Amino acid sequence: MLDHGAPPHNGGPAAPHSSGVGMRLMRRKPVERLVAEGGHGEGGTLRRSLGLWQLTMISIGATLGTGIFVVLGEAVPKAGPAVTLSFVIAGLTALFSALSYAELAGTIPVSGSSYSYAYATMGELIAWVCGWCLMLEYGVSVAAVAVGWGEYLNELLDGTIGVTLPAALSAPPGDGGVFNAPALIVVMLAMAFLLGGARESARANTVMVLVKIGALVLFCAIGVQGFRSGNYENFMPLGMAGVSAAGATLFFSYIGFDAASTAGEEAKNAQRDLPRAILLSLAIITALYVLVAAVAVGAKPWRQFTDSEATLAQIMREVTGQSFWGTLLAFCAVVAIASVVLTVLYGQTRILFAMSRDGLVPKVFARVSPRTGTPRANTLIVSLFCGVLAAAVPLGQLADATSIGTLFAFALVNVAVVVLRRSRPDMPRSFRVPLSPLLPALGFGFCLWMMGSLSTVTWVVFGVWMAVGLVFYFLYGYRRSRLAAPAPSEAK
Ligand code: ALA
Repeated sequence: MLDHGAPPHNGGPAAPHSSGVGMRLMRRKPVERLVAEGGHGEGGTLRRSLGLWQLTMISIGATLGTGIFVVLGEAVPKAGPAVTLSFVIAGLTALFSALSYAELAGTIPVSGSSYSYAYATMGELIAWVCGWCLMLEYGVSVAAVAVGWGEYLNELLDGTIGVTLPAALSAPPGDGGVFNAPALIVVMLAMAFLLGGARESARANTVMVLVKIGALVLFCAIGVQGFRSGNYENFMPLGMAGVSAAGATLFFSYIGFDAASTAGEEAKNAQRDLPRAILLSLAIITALYVLVAAVAVGAKPWRQFTDSEATLAQIMREVTGQSFWGTLLAFCAVVAIASVVLTVLYGQTRILFAMSRDGLVPKVFARVSPRTGTPRANTLIVSLFCGVLAAAVPLGQLADATSIGTLFAFALVNVAVVVLRRSRPDMPRSFRVPLSPLLPALGFGFCLWMMGSLSTVTWVVFGVWMAVGLVFYFLYGYRRSRLAAPAPSEAK
């Protein structure tokens, strides 16, 4: 167990109420204080109900979705059969950062994920920047994923009852519609589960994860029957450049493996289970992705892949000659993407919970219902915000910015793990990144490399997003931070 009561020592956290703007921006929250506050919100505490199995399912739930069902079709024309290699490269990028996440989640097992790790190691301003990036990774991506859900729902309705929703009700203004009703509906459904409790949500998520894993395994079992080794003859038709371009596109499909780290305060044995859940989920996801990609390009010549959204369903139809399979896969995709919405929405509420407890966002986000042991008001506000964003705003470039925000947060986690090793070498760690600082440095480098391969427009959107975040911080969090007060007990 960690010695949470140990005082900060040499090279440890800065004095909370140091004077001077620079010092205040650098103020760090002691690890002991972060951990001691774990679970405590305004008026109640979060309930610790999640074990290793549920935590792993949360990470898989948040990760496995649009990426494999939709983005694979975009990546094959870039890399050819070597798309399998692209999945491995994207997986490696995720792995380096996942190792850093695993070490920090086991050492600082709280709900704020990388925001809290940055607070303990690099100070408040960087922590805020990290938390603001997480709002892209979680909050904005919930909205983007909910829009994708609506598209699959339409396909399912078409395949089963031959009806599709009119554009007016399935797209926002600016995208040829009035209101995207399915996007709002899926967010509201996820909200209903989350209000019921973390354990209930985790249970629903587990069922959905099993359905999506089942669907991918079924795809492999059927797709392999159409496998022709000739499809692999020209393995890397577009060279290494094509492989890495496809890898950057496919990185999106790995986003979410860190979701278990937002459940640190609801885990039964966070120090032991969080690192395991993060690494286990990444191993399962990578294996599934590589297998599905290998079967897909084995069953269909790579040149015949179009940028279609229903790639997997098409392959199943072609191999079996029956349209039923396509409809079944559309159903599984609807379930799969709903579980991404549920778990990512969960993550966003918990990150805001941690930020609110620190005083950087309004207190209402840290209020806990004594009855359900969940942050109800927080869940309602975040869900309504994401639901309306998904339904009424054409997200365009903002959705693309989720990748850049995520990569930036991952890069910071790789720095944080090295900083904590130096400032607190003595702390007990349930998991240690091997070969540190080499692997965290590689993780950091890979993240920057991927960020560099994103478009200028995405960078501009990211810059605007960060500028808005900094204005909010200086107008609100900077003065209201609980570390700004002389003593924690006096800061309300
Ligand atoms: N990785 C998540 C997905 O593919 C965001 O849907």
